[in-house]
Amino acid sequence: MVYNISMRVLFYAAKSFDRDSFDAISDQYPDIEIDYTNSELEPRSAKMAEGYDAVCAFVSANVGAKTLSALAKLGVKIVLMRCAGYDNVDTKKAKELGITIKIVPHYSPEAVAELAMGLALAANRRLCKSYNRVRDNNFNIDGLCGVNLSRKTAGIIGTGKIGTAMCCICMGFGMRIIAYDTHKNPLLEKLVEYVSLDELYKRSDLISLHCPLTEETRHMIDIEAIKKMRDGVILVNTSRGALINTTDLIKGIKMGKFHGVGLDVYEEEADDIYYDHSNSILPNPATSRLLDYPNVVMTSHQGFYTKEALYAIAETTLQNATDAINGLRNENDVA
Ligand code: NAI
Repeated sequence: MVYNISMRVLFYAAKSFDRDSFDAISDQYPDIEIDYTNSELEPRSAKMAEGYDAVCAFVSANVGAKTLSALAKLGVKIVLMRCAGYDNVDTKKAKELGITIKIVPHYSPEAVAELAMGLALAANRRLCKSYNRVRDNNFNIDGLCGVNLSRKTAGIIGTGKIGTAMCCICMGFGMRIIAYDTHKNPLLEKLVEYVSLDELYKRSDLISLHCPLTEETRHMIDIEAIKKMRDGVILVNTSRGALINTTDLIKGIKMGKFHGVGLDVYEEEADDIYYDHSNSILPNPATSRLLDYPNVVMTSHQGFYTKEALYAIAETTLQNATDAINGLRNENDVA
């Protein structure tokens, strides 16, 4: 469909950083009019999009069949996802309904990979505990002992854009890199050793997850996988929470399998991330449980959250909208 007039976009779950990065460049896109709402996109809030041509949503949205049907009834034909992963979008239903879904497939792989290494270091060297102790004038370092990463083995699962950036960072730390991917990355083949998943579990001192969430990868890290890992492994997930079976992760932590666990993403995150629950009791028991363990460091799905990444997300999303106005499909279309 070609839009001859300017496009009206309802921007769901808008945070101040979203408004800042989109408003900073919006004058370069005069054909696109954005209204922001704090509401999350889900079946009930979809009706707010009446009168809009497109909606803009993020990883925490529910862009399932019900939401898409509600949008289609209102004549909304474009969903602009301002993120790379789109496991929260029912692309099959979107195709059925003739809704175009555009994503931002690459904005700053380094932003996510750098956080992955940050989490590995924080979990390994107990940086959060250490910070809290020193702030409390407690300079005792008992219990904060870490391990060197240099000359250890990093196992990277998923060697696309972010996994590749993580391989480079791990090389900078003097690590040996082994990797698993269903499609080997030709750029990496001379630098890393591709192995089977079982071998990766067996040999890695640090395992970092960088593959998308699909039916195949859901719960790929379960108790069987955990049992195959080396004792004292560091596990980092900056990809999608459901790659790990949380119940099994908790079992593994209690078995003493992990030296450290760093999680930017976790299965129950949807209700929590980006909201201040400091005065309430968390509704999600597994998240509270994970927060209890001294060797677990968690962040709030902030891998994308650097100035460079925010700018690139805004630019690509607005370019996607412009392409949609002009009826152009591009490599960012997933439906
Ligand atoms: P990408 O598409 O460049 O790379 C994904 C890689 O995973 C590909 O090489 C693909 O072949 C591989 N893969 C697919 N199925 C696999 C399987 N069953 N086993 C092993 N590997 C498999 O994607 P990119 O940009 O590197 O992003 C990876 C993931 O990171 C995204 O899907 C998203 O879930 C997550 N992400 C997280 C962010 C955060 O803020 N924490 C921000 C951006 C992305």
